[in-house]
Amino acid sequence: MRIKTLEEYKNQKKKFDDNPEKFWEEKAESFIWHKQWDEVLNWDFNTAKVNWFSGGKLNITENCLDRHLKERSNQIAIKWIANDPNEDNINITYKELHAQVCKFSNVLRKRGVKKGDRVCLYMPMVLELSIAVLACARIGAIHSVVFAGFSAKSLSNRINDAECTVLITSDGGFRGNKVTPLKDISDLAMQKTPSIESCIVLKRTDSEIEMKKDRDFWWHDEMMTADENAPAEIMDSEDELFILYTSGSTGKPKGIVHTTAGYMIYAQYSFQNVFQYNEGDLYWCTADIGWITGHSYIIYGPLLSGAITVMFEGVPTYPDAGRFWEIVEKNKINIFYTAPTAIRALEAKGTGFVRKYDLSSLKVLGTVGEPINEDAWNWYFKEIGGERCPIVDTWWQTETGGIMISNLAGINKAKATFATLPLPGIQACIVDDAGNELKENNIEGKLSIKYPWPSMARTIYGDHKRYIDTYFSAYPGKYFSGDGCYKDEEGLFRITGRVDDVLIVSGHNLGTAEIESAIDEHQNVCESAIVGYPHSIKGNGVYAFIICHEKPSNLQESNKEINDLIVKHVGPIAKVDKFLYIDGLPKTRSGKIMRRILRKIAGGETTNLGDTSTLLDPTVVESIIKESIN
Ligand code: WT7
Repeated sequence: MRIKTLEEYKNQKKKFDDNPEKFWEEKAESFIWHKQWDEVLNWDFNTAKVNWFSGGKLNITENCLDRHLKERSNQIAIKWIANDPNEDNINITYKELHAQVCKFSNVLRKRGVKKGDRVCLYMPMVLELSIAVLACARIGAIHSVVFAGFSAKSLSNRINDAECTVLITSDGGFRGNKVTPLKDISDLAMQKTPSIESCIVLKRTDSEIEMKKDRDFWWHDEMMTADENAPAEIMDSEDELFILYTSGSTGKPKGIVHTTAGYMIYAQYSFQNVFQYNEGDLYWCTADIGWITGHSYIIYGPLLSGAITVMFEGVPTYPDAGRFWEIVEKNKINIFYTAPTAIRALEAKGTGFVRKYDLSSLKVLGTVGEPINEDAWNWYFKEIGGERCPIVDTWWQTETGGIMISNLAGINKAKATFATLPLPGIQACIVDDAGNELKENNIEGKLSIKYPWPSMARTIYGDHKRYIDTYFSAYPGKYFSGDGCYKDEEGLFRITGRVDDVLIVSGHNLGTAEIESAIDEHQNVCESAIVGYPHSIKGNGVYAFIICHEKPSNLQESNKEINDLIVKHVGPIAKVDKFLYIDGLPKTRSGKIMRRILRKIAGGETTNLGDTSTLLDPTVVESIIKESIN
């Protein structure tokens, strides 16, 4: 099934060009279906309606678990590694994972969860998070995982948007030397979530917490009496599998919806081909399951492929900056997938932490989440990969469900800072501002996709119009990614970064409006504008331009108060790195903030600011520059 040579790679591309539907149909055939599909594809990008494998009946967990029981029931499915290096790892086999998922499916069913209900998961990186995700999928409940670094307010907003009926959390979470009080945060959130009927709480940190009678139940109590037999709910191909929130250019996060069959097929296809997974390899993706990378490439892609997937609870710098490499050596990791921000942070700590460890088990390295700079790429290639391991630079998004542009490890060419080429089956293109496709090489424009792919998002939960407006209206007939892209002389793709109001900070996707509205909560703030600026570790730092009623007398205090508000409303990942208090923002006559100018000033540019003639008051710019130099 997997593409193993450059020749096969070319053949697959040709096969797709000749008959796209047949291409995908062949990929679908290797799965367990309860009923064959009636139609491979039905689509219309104008109304953003896309159906793959309509009429097919299946359950994704039978494909992740049950179908492996014959051949690999005693093989490790997930190798879980604790935050504390002295705590034992847990190796859970396919058989054991199947049993745990079935038991928890019954727990959820007993709590009244039915097909189509939404379940929110707010958990640390523990094995039970994977079990809960799969249990939801098994009973046809739609999982909505919320990253455990988000605040109570972000959590309640997400619960309310999807009207989740159950929340699964834990007493606390370990990350480095910190304990996050997840149940306390959940309690705060649940004061404002009328839809929640029950909350299931895993014991992890032994923290002192409150359990509300008839609402809160301990995971271990519930599991004690649960049966190990849980028939899978039979789902339609297009039944919703999960919702995952991502930031948008307005304050309200978007609930990206993925459906069952297409997501499943593409998660397996992309995992096997990009990483060139071989039977028995140990594969480790360091992402959190709170992001799409964790969904597709810790849980679904690897388990669908019968792989051994590593799940790590901790952080790269605890107990010290050698932790990743210690884990690689000790567990003989073969495939390692992480983010540029982690690479840069570890590079900055020096090679001493790397050279202590034997990394010779590594065969393939991957990167995802933001553009990787040349220096970090070279360091990764040389110091971590020993100039021996191909690097896959994988471009994709929450909305695409799976990796869209990447070389296949060792099969086609890698090039530093280039995601290289769309996978066979993906029709990516670069367009100009008018939406015309730029077919020649050596050009720059906006990255779009002109043909559907199985794992594309189907809608924004509860707001299909916003889905159309955000992705399908800029260039009619095409999906618009929001990223800029350059194509070199050979036609290789290099992603240059966001062209909209989304900021990628340390690989996390943040909406500027979300941060601005948190800042505006401060009683002394009239208005604010957020932009990114180049940051050596985070990729982008957060730069805040703030207009106050009265100039703050104590800047440090004001900065802290504002950051506390951001932590409360969004989460610590969105904290401001640089503050600038100003008297006015550069606005157009229609009142739109010209971020392009702010971005330049934040990046240290003071002269070459481009066209400022459409500004309502061009003198504002001079005064901001003055402040920024002071
Ligand atoms: C945005 C999507 C996909 C999983 C993690 C992020 C940026 C992602 C790359 C890459 C350059 C990248 C894009 C994209 N991005 N991968 N290899 N090179 N940029 O998912 O939170 O939905 O963010 O991340 O800007 O649009 P996400």
